[in-house]
Amino acid sequence: MYCSQRQQGEPKDWGSELFEALKAAGGKAYSNYAVGYNNVKVDEATKRGIPVGNTPAARRVPEADVFMRAGKYQGWLPTLFIGNLLQNKTVGIIGAGRIGAAYARMMVEGHKMNLVYFDPYPNTKLEAYIRMYGELLRHHGEPPVAVRRVDTVEEVLQEADVVSLHCNLDATTTHLMNEARLKMMKPNAVLINAARGPVIEEAALVAHLKANPEFRCGLDVFEHEPAMAPGLAECPNAVIVPHIASASFWTRSGMATLAAANVAATLSGHPVWSKPDNIAPFIERPLTSLPAAAPSIVNAKQLGLTIADDE
Ligand SMILES: NC(=O)c1ccc[n+]([C@@H]2O[C@H](COP(=O)([O-])OP(=O)(O)OC[C@H]3O[C@@H](n4cnc5c(N)ncnc54)[C@H](O)[C@@H]3O)[C@@H](O)[C@H]2O)c1
Repeated sequence: MYCSQRQQGEPKDWGSELFEALKAAGGKAYSNYAVGYNNVKVDEATKRGIPVGNTPAARRVPEADVFMRAGKYQGWLPTLFIGNLLQNKTVGIIGAGRIGAAYARMMVEGHKMNLVYFDPYPNTKLEAYIRMYGELLRHHGEPPVAVRRVDTVEEVLQEADVVSLHCNLDATTTHLMNEARLKMMKPNAVLINAARGPVIEEAALVAHLKANPEFRCGLDVFEHEPAMAPGLAECPNAVIVPHIASASFWTRSGMATLAAANVAATLSGHPVWSKPDNIAPFIERPLTSLPAAAPSIVNAKQLGLTIADDE
């Protein structure tokens, strides 16, 4: 068997001559140490009955991008920017509402991760979906995925390889991630916050990132936004972006439509939309045929506003 590992620079080309030599030397298989196998004439291997393998994978993009722009790339190396494989690991969600559930599905479906989550209220729809998805995988002969709601945030932190925060910000979630809870996480875990900045005590996070180089975080929001905690910008194990989680044209124009429709419907005396979790009719239709309702009034119940029976 021959396992081709690139030296620094371009991979070695494998064609008729080398496959012939491999066969003559008693070689039974060839494996390329790379995802791409453009350097391999597969039909030449096939002609000689030699199976060709490759190594699908993916990785640490922001650090690698900075490295590349700095002109430091000297050629491919097997250990350059090694990251962790997510497949069959566990994703943990704190707050499985609209966004938390959508993110959970992306990670479970995209990376075949198991899900563990904490939310004061069970998300039975999400759980049912993931159980069915697990059955589908089993049916296809693949390892199934599992879902479990746990009773405490701590259980999520101890178990998950990736923890993503999607709770709303209130007194119970301010500084939910403090020094003690950060220390409960696996030393090589990933923490993501695209909810609200004060859910994480940012100074404690900076200290944790410095003490644990294998720990990584992705932040879209900041405790004292737009400022960052001192030292955060210098942490190579943090990926930081300026509150752009919703920054797609579709999402931002939909948000503008919803905000305007709330005002217009309230001023017109329309009732409040009865399905705040399904606002699709407001963002997918032309403005001239929006439902005669205010799409999302968060204090409708407290104000005793009329809820629409139906469209
Ligand atoms: N970064 C951005 O651009 C951006 C965009 C939209 C929303 N957000 C934020 O994302 C978060 C989620 O938004 P959503 O629309 O999914 O809200 P949502 O109301 O649908 O979901 C929030 C979930 O958090 C749960 N929750 C409440 N208290 C909790 C606690 N103590 N621990 C764990 N879970 C708790 C709720 O039960 C609910 O299921 C919010 O904080 C929101 O402000 C950020």
